[in-house]
Amino acid sequence: MQPEAMGIGLIGLGGISGVHIEGYRKEGLRVVAGADPRSEARKERAAQFGIDVYASGAELAAREDVHVLDITVLHDFALREPLLRELVTFGKPIVIQKPLAVSLEEATALVEIAEAAGVPMMVHHNSIFVPAFKAVFRAINEGKIGTPYFCQIQNRAWLDFRDHAFFGRQPRWVLASMGVHHLALLDHWFGAWRSVHAMMGVDGDQPGVIGDTWSSLHIRYESGMCAHVLNDWSVRDSGSLAHPREELVIQGHRGTILAAGNDVVLRTSEGESRESIEGNWFPDAFGRLMRHYLEALASGGPLVQSGRANLRVISLLEAAYRSAESGELVLAG
Ligand SMILES: NC(=O)c1ccc[n+]([C@@H]2O[C@H](COP(=O)([O-])OP(=O)(O)OC[C@H]3O[C@@H](n4cnc5c(N)ncnc54)[C@H](O)[C@@H]3O)[C@@H](O)[C@H]2O)c1
Repeated sequence: MQPEAMGIGLIGLGGISGVHIEGYRKEGLRVVAGADPRSEARKERAAQFGIDVYASGAELAAREDVHVLDITVLHDFALREPLLRELVTFGKPIVIQKPLAVSLEEATALVEIAEAAGVPMMVHHNSIFVPAFKAVFRAINEGKIGTPYFCQIQNRAWLDFRDHAFFGRQPRWVLASMGVHHLALLDHWFGAWRSVHAMMGVDGDQPGVIGDTWSSLHIRYESGMCAHVLNDWSVRDSGSLAHPREELVIQGHRGTILAAGNDVVLRTSEGESRESIEGNWFPDAFGRLMRHYLEALASGGPLVQSGRANLRVISLLEAAYRSAESGELVLAG
């Protein structure tokens, strides 16, 4: 079946689901219906997008014209585990929002549920499909900067979580919910990680927030590639490097690529070239991810960040939190 003919069913109609629908529609894909136990969320999305809505995911999954399920409920294991168990019984392929889970143990349990049911599951790491980041990856693969040896990602902003009902109330916070996008992107670009040393903390002016609001990771990859990944949402800064305009700098022995938002700059000894790439993280990267997923299902091709492959990303996330706790370097495996 062609991607455009496949019916997408959204499980969860909260904050990010609107971006899913916009991105998929912009890509010419078909969202048929959505499910959410909250009636206000159902009403809002039905009015906004004219989709059919249901109070339960099972009702939606049972529809014949729903071919794939797109899970956007929060990454709370107590919520995702029973939901996934129920949804896989319909045998329909599943995309699930990142992070799959905030610990390797929980992520593994979810992957095993999908695998036992024979359901192809992919994690919604739209960072990999951001048009500017795709242009960066192409330039690296074309050898424009020679052999890459070091990469920096800087995501800096002041986000106040004091009054939010649950943001930051769990011990694994900004790295798990935001930085994980960067970990997946670098995994896609540079392969298996070998070691990580992490420092992280909580802004003292946000009472009640216990999860990390800043983290700084030094990662070494099997290939020898090194990376510094900074996700700091408690810096009182201009916000010019705030997600989705975080800055990526990739150094190779022949040049450097810098990217932020739509802008990609290449500097080599021959000079500088600048490009403004069409398409944004929100919502274009969401639509392009779904197109990739549907095409891969149709062709039997490999998935970018299948549940199983994503366990390598989650193992790095887990190792970073352990490193920050112990102050020690943590090795893969
Ligand atoms: N760039 C990105 O990819 C991106 C951006 C934002 C959020 N996210 C991820 O998306 C997930 C959801 O974030 P959000 O901000 O939309 O959260 P949210 O709380 O606004 O929405 C989640 C929705 O799921 C619904 N829900 C709960 N249980 C359900 C069930 N059993 N069946 C169907 N629906 C159910 C809730 O009622 C709620 O409306 C998080 O895991 C987050 O990390 C990803």
